[in-house]
Amino acid sequence: MATLDSLQINRTHSAKKRAPRNRTLTTNTSDAVSLRTRLLRPQEIHGENWVGRTICGNCFEAFERLPAQTVDMLILDPPYNLYKKFGGQEFLRVPVEQYTDWLRILFGATKPLLKPTATVYICGDWLSSASIFTAASEFFEIRNRITWEREKGRGALSNWKNSSEDVWFCTVSNTYTFNVDAVKVRRRVIAPYRQTNGQPKDWVQTDKGNFRDTHPSNLWTDITVPFWSMPENTDHPTQKSEKFIAKLILASSDPGKEYGSRPFPRQRDIVCRS
Ligand SMILES: C[S@@+](CC[C@H](N)C(=O)[O-])C[C@H]1O[C@@H](n2cnc3c(N)ncnc32)[C@H](O)[C@@H]1O
Repeated sequence: MATLDSLQINRTHSAKKRAPRNRTLTTNTSDAVSLRTRLLRPQEIHGENWVGRTICGNCFEAFERLPAQTVDMLILDPPYNLYKKFGGQEFLRVPVEQYTDWLRILFGATKPLLKPTATVYICGDWLSSASIFTAASEFFEIRNRITWEREKGRGALSNWKNSSEDVWFCTVSNTYTFNVDAVKVRRRVIAPYRQTNGQPKDWVQTDKGNFRDTHPSNLWTDITVPFWSMPENTDHPTQKSEKFIAKLILASSDPGKEYGSRPFPRQRDIVCRS
C-alpha cells in the first residue's frame, strides 16, 4: 500500500520521450510538492478536515472514518474484472462470483456514508456489469444502465471488438436529484416543424443551423477516452474523460450544496488510492 511519504514523482513518465503534440499531463517536483499539501491519509481524517481535500490511500480505510450520511453523489470506478496494471499494482481477472462478492463488500462499506437522497454511479465493462447488477441490486435502487461508446483499443481476430462500457445509475431511495435540463443533448433538426404562428416547434433557429435540445438517453455516443493530444490526458490506463464525469455531476448534483466522492479516481486527482 502506498503512503503519502512513499509516493514518488513519476519520473519514468516525465522522462518518457513524447511526440511534439503529445499533451499528456505529468508532474514535476514542484507540482508534486504543492499537490501533496492537498492530500490527506485515511488515518488523518478528523471531523470535517477532509472537505475539499483529496484522501489518498485505501478507500476502505477512508470509508471507516468518514461520517455517516454525508455523501450526496458517489462515482465508483473500481478495478474491472480483468487483468490490469495500475502503476505498481496488478489486478487479475477472478471468477465472476468472487468479483461479485468483492463488490458486495465495497457497496456495503459505502452505503452508510450515503444520504437517503444520494445517487451512486458504478462503472464497468460488459463482464463486470453482470456482477455490478447482482451486487448493486442488494444495496441500491437500480434505475438504469448507461452504455457509452468507447472507441479505442485493438480489434480481436476471434471475437467482436469491445467498444463500449457501462455506468450503472443507482439511488439510495426514490427521492433523488436529476437535472434533466442540464444534460439535454443538442441535435440538428431534420424535420423543422413550425407552430401555426410560424414559430419553431421545440427547436431553435441560429445562424449555425437549427437545433433541438433532446432528452438524454442511456446510450452515449458523445464521449471519447482521453487521447494523448488532449490536455486532460494522463498515463493512467483506464482514465475517464472530464466530459464523462461532468455529465454525471451535472445530472445528479446541485451546485454549491453537496459533497461528492470518487473513491477510485484518476491518478492526478486522487481521492483514495491504495
Ligand atoms: C478503473 S481505475 C479508475 C480510473 C479513474 N477513475 C480515472 O478516470 O482515471 C481503478 C483504480 O482504483 C484503484 N484502486 C484499486 N483498489 C483500491 C482501493 N482499495 N482503494 C483505492 N483505490 C483503489 C486502482 O489503483 C485504479 O487506479
